[in-house]
Amino acid sequence: MSLKRESALQHLRDLVTQKLEHTNKPRIYEAGGGSTSILPEQCLERAEIVVVDIDPQQIAANDYATTKVVGDIQVHQFPKNSFDLICCYNVIEHLDRPDRAIQRFSEALNPSGLLVVGAPNPRSFTGFITKFTPHWFHVWYYRRVLGCEEAGMPGRVPFPVVYHPIVNPAALMKFARPLGLKPILHLEYESSTFNLLMARSPFLGRFVYGFTGLLNRLFTKETNLRNGDYHIIFEKCDLSSEDQVEVTSQRLSLRSRHPHSQLDPTKGVAA
Ligand SMILES: C[S@@+](CC[C@H](N)C(=O)[O-])C[C@H]1O[C@@H](n2cnc3c(N)ncnc32)[C@H](O)[C@@H]1O
Repeated sequence: MSLKRESALQHLRDLVTQKLEHTNKPRIYEAGGGSTSILPEQCLERAEIVVVDIDPQQIAANDYATTKVVGDIQVHQFPKNSFDLICCYNVIEHLDRPDRAIQRFSEALNPSGLLVVGAPNPRSFTGFITKFTPHWFHVWYYRRVLGCEEAGMPGRVPFPVVYHPIVNPAALMKFARPLGLKPILHLEYESSTFNLLMARSPFLGRFVYGFTGLLNRLFTKETNLRNGDYHIIFEKCDLSSEDQVEVTSQRLSLRSRHPHSQLDPTKGVAA
């Protein structure tokens, strides 16, 4: 039995609520926050919320942020200890350098602060299809199969995906640990694509669902290919000097794998 999205979200919200229980006015950074948040309402209501998003249309549509910034989360920097919670939900798969974004988050977090990451799982059926098909196919799928007429228009899903290697949850946790980010929750859950597909096209939906079940039985022992998405909550903790050495070598190896990647450090204009 796979975990469903609603249960996975409930686990995430319960833990966030519990951890922020004693913080009077939490400072929250929604990185690539767009116009909606998955965070628990009771936290949002009493929080100071900064949203940074690269898309001006998403920022314009956001009505809950205290501060709105049009900017690139891979380069946008905040002073140390700026936030109690950073949420980066369904964003890292779109980034050329999510490693740089995670590095910035670790610097901007308070000691014991939380980093919430949600992303599609590249080691799943839907993750695999998304990774190896072009963006026009994703737009076609949303429009024709799921019936979203406005898919692919400015500010509308689906956004182009990159799938940098650290989008893989195991790689992400390995990368984050030397930055002082310790995972305290890791949940993989069934992609909601199956439900959406079954609602729109029951025959195709059941076929794809059954097909992934068959693949699970035939080829995979530990991996559930239906688990198309994951949540990880990291807690910021102290680094030992040993970890400091590890982070340096990790950064070097990531740089050598992406030698031509360019970021514009001038992006990051307050809206
Ligand atoms: C799928 S949406 C998710 C929005 C929101 N986090 C949510 O869960 O509803 C992805 C968002 O990431 C933003 N985004 C993509 N690349 C970005 C970047 N380099 N810096 C900031 N935001 C970015 C997009 O504009 C979009 O709003």
